[in-house]
Amino acid sequence: MTDTVSVKNIGLRGVTVADTKVSFIDGKEGVLVYRGYRIEDLARNSTFPEVAYLLLYDVLPNSKQLTDFSKQLQDAASIPTYVYESLKLLPGDAAPMDVLQAGVPLLAMTDPELTDDSKEANLRKAVRLIARLPMLVAAWHRIRQGLDPLPADTSLSHAANFLWQLQGVKPSAEMARILDTCLVLHADHTFNTSTFSCREVVSTRAHIYAGVTAGLGALSGSLHGGANAQVMNMLSSLREEQDVTGWVQKQLANGERIMGMGHAVYTTMDPRAKFLKEMALVLGKETGEEKLVDLSMQVEQAALAEFEKRGKTEIKPNVDFYSASVYHLLGIPADIMTPVFAISRIAGWTAHIIEEKTGEAQEKPALYRPKAEYVGQYCGLMGCEFIPQEKRS
Ligand SMILES: CC(C)(COP(=O)(O)OP(=O)(O)OC[C@H]1O[C@@H](n2cnc3c(N)ncnc32)[C@H](O)[C@@H]1OP(=O)(O)O)[C@@H](O)C(=O)NCCC(=O)NCCS
Repeated sequence: MTDTVSVKNIGLRGVTVADTKVSFIDGKEGVLVYRGYRIEDLARNSTFPEVAYLLLYDVLPNSKQLTDFSKQLQDAASIPTYVYESLKLLPGDAAPMDVLQAGVPLLAMTDPELTDDSKEANLRKAVRLIARLPMLVAAWHRIRQGLDPLPADTSLSHAANFLWQLQGVKPSAEMARILDTCLVLHADHTFNTSTFSCREVVSTRAHIYAGVTAGLGALSGSLHGGANAQVMNMLSSLREEQDVTGWVQKQLANGERIMGMGHAVYTTMDPRAKFLKEMALVLGKETGEEKLVDLSMQVEQAALAEFEKRGKTEIKPNVDFYSASVYHLLGIPADIMTPVFAISRIAGWTAHIIEEKTGEAQEKPALYRPKAEYVGQYCGLMGCEFIPQEKRS
């Protein structure tokens, strides 16, 4: 039942709820820009810290600004001991995304600027979150194996340091560069579900950590960031499959989804997926694991052919499809793949949170408060007759 005349839009598809200057997508043309710059140019020519700076400060940094920003990230790369001690109390089989979502409020508790909601303080908190989220992920992976977390190595780049803290081995320059490019590609994506969750939460004037915690929860779902782990699980289960086309047909006939395919905004190839496919091919050759990449391409081809038969030509590989192979070839376990998405998206989330809080993109930011059509029991405005408990049948 509706109280006023309104337009119903399930899932908010195509509904504009705010203005933003952070990023833009043209889903028909397959274009993604961060602060005006095309993702292809950023992926080829920049680094993740440079892109994080761009997202937060609305300008590409000059060399001094980038050096200072990278130093700020390195200086922030330490986690209070009580956080590690808390992680050690968690069940060893806890999902890394749950641990990450539990870890962020722990970081909030001793942030000296938690209640300072000025833009400057929030930018400093954003730097701390970008520096510390990867540390939480790496620490949990080591703790669950009975190992101690490793301290950050400030001689390494942001991406290389993550691989070092996660795996305990210094990565090659090429492996670090590939992960860095993945971080650039995942850093922002307009009003996707997790970013909207962050913005919605901070529209209540909750702090930045509360917003990020909500974003992590939204990202963990298999229709969003959780899809990369599902793709990896699918590929692992198909390693011995002789009839990949038959498997795809069966999945679709059973009404199942092919994970890593389809998108709420793109009706053509996701520009990030093109990059990730190229990276998977290169890495597959270099690591001698071409079979996995071949298998991904077989699933892709079979799925595209089936979608075409069903008149759903807009369903194509998204960012998660080939990122699963790339992360696997970088030695990242399946359940750490969504957390890797998070350590990149934290740059976009914090940029959006600051934009939401400052109202920089629109004159009057408002508390988000959509409505739902009530379809439950209704007995008129006086309400249904309340029957005392003892008289209910
Ligand atoms: C991402 C996603 C939710 C976007 O979908 P959407 O644009 O909101 O569209 P819907 O979920 O309404 O799906 C529209 C139709 O396409 C089908 N479809 C969409 N993606 C599909 C997929 N990956 N496999 C099989 N069918 C798919 C749906 O079943 C639905 O079919 P129907 O109309 O016959 O019921 C969807 O493509 C999906 O579930 N993909 C798999 C999960 C994934 O990779 N998520 C990461 C996104 S970056």
